[in-house]
Amino acid sequence: MNLMNVDYSTKIPNNVNLAEDRQVLKALEGWHPGYLDWWNDMGPEGFQESLVYLRTAVSVDPKGWAKFDYVRMPEYRWGVLLAPQDEARLVNFGEHKGEKAWQEVPGEYRAMLRRLVVIQGDTEPASVEQQRHLGRTAPSLYDMRNLFQVNVEEGRHLWAMVYLLQKYFGRDGREEADELLRRRSGDADSPRMLGAFNEKTPDWLSFFMFTFFTDRDGKMQLESLAQSGFDPLSRTCRFMLTEEAHHMFVGETGVGRVLQRTCEAMKAAGIEDPNQIERVRALGVVDLPTIQKKMNLHYSLSLDLFGSEVSTNAANFYNAGLKGRFQETKIDDDHRLTNAVYPVLKLVDGRITRVDEPALTALNMRLRDDYTEDCAKGVERWNKIIEKAGANFRLELPHTAFHRQIGEFRDIHATPTGVLISDAEWAKKRGACLPSEADGAFIESLMQPVSEPGKFANWIAPPKVGIDNKPGEFEYVKIAA
Ligand SMILES: [Fe+2]
Ligand SMILES: [Fe+2]
Repeated sequence: MNLMNVDYSTKIPNNVNLAEDRQVLKALEGWHPGYLDWWNDMGPEGFQESLVYLRTAVSVDPKGWAKFDYVRMPEYRWGVLLAPQDEARLVNFGEHKGEKAWQEVPGEYRAMLRRLVVIQGDTEPASVEQQRHLGRTAPSLYDMRNLFQVNVEEGRHLWAMVYLLQKYFGRDGREEADELLRRRSGDADSPRMLGAFNEKTPDWLSFFMFTFFTDRDGKMQLESLAQSGFDPLSRTCRFMLTEEAHHMFVGETGVGRVLQRTCEAMKAAGIEDPNQIERVRALGVVDLPTIQKKMNLHYSLSLDLFGSEVSTNAANFYNAGLKGRFQETKIDDDHRLTNAVYPVLKLVDGRITRVDEPALTALNMRLRDDYTEDCAKGVERWNKIIEKAGANFRLELPHTAFHRQIGEFRDIHATPTGVLISDAEWAKKRGACLPSEADGAFIESLMQPVSEPGKFANWIAPPKVGIDNKPGEFEYVKIAA
């Protein structure tokens, strides 16, 4: 079988030769109805019958993305797709550096690996649950289609992790696969595993921020798992990253179009001071300070996803060759890190201080720094939009000590610029740094659906180009089909 091509003859499209892997095929087919129940219960609300112009994989090389067509979401062909195997691939870091990459789970690392797969797997359905109500307030059919594309792909990412669980982890893998369908985002009794995946995504600005900041955490986690010495995990993650790129695109261009529209409206109305919030809001667009507050919230929630800055778990994962660094193979060092150090921001005697820690235990911090750098580039592109539109305003990522629930700064309060403040001061300042209830109510008031082809809500600019080069008035979703 040609690994580049996808076999559509089994119920589950795949390029892992499921037709000859009866046991795993049976396990996946057994899991399928529960997945569809979950999708129907927790997937996009109100649009399961609509025809959506979606992209699906026909092969796993970059060109294999070309296939677009109308499909009802429950009929989307969720499949198991891995990047091609490289026979010569090695374990590239940790204690086993230089060994041949593992095709089976090393017995001693079974529990650790399963945990990594389950944590990643749990985030995938969570975001679908968080976003399920957004179709009803989509600012255009173009945006609605992008939302649904992200949703079906997160569903496929769940499949990707469930395949690994069922193929490589036997009975407890199957139990974990069932648990992934049982937990629910925000549920009091069985919530999703990570904080940001239990938050609400109340409106479209939140959705764009989420895909920019939180999906980008996903990208960084996938990048480091793509380095794994356990080859099936690496291949799975490498393919998921090609899909993740679209999610980043949706977030970055989404926020960019909101900024564009706000700046244009301010200019047309002759408003020079972006802090004249009421005047700007009266134009029916989101004022720039509120966009900064939304950014503060989503960035800080996403930083928490990297875990504690100093972590022995992270060191163990690395030593074992299971989870590497961002672009591990491009880094010029010994890839064992036994004597290396890495600077970590810590709270020392009540001050934010840079302290050298063993590089092995500081791996979460390092990945988070790479993430921050990646975010900052996107924020600069947003600032270019603001600048070009002639508004006098700059967006800034808040300090990493700001609004944290996990790690070094979880017990203190800091301003977005990183000044430590008392509880009382924070209580006074909070509304100026994070979205208030009134901000949320204002944004919600803008969330009036627009479903006429080619039309966009007043608060967001149209995209520069259509999906699959379609013209402006293309009907991306046939709602009543
Ligand atoms: Fe995902
Ligand atoms: Fe994603």
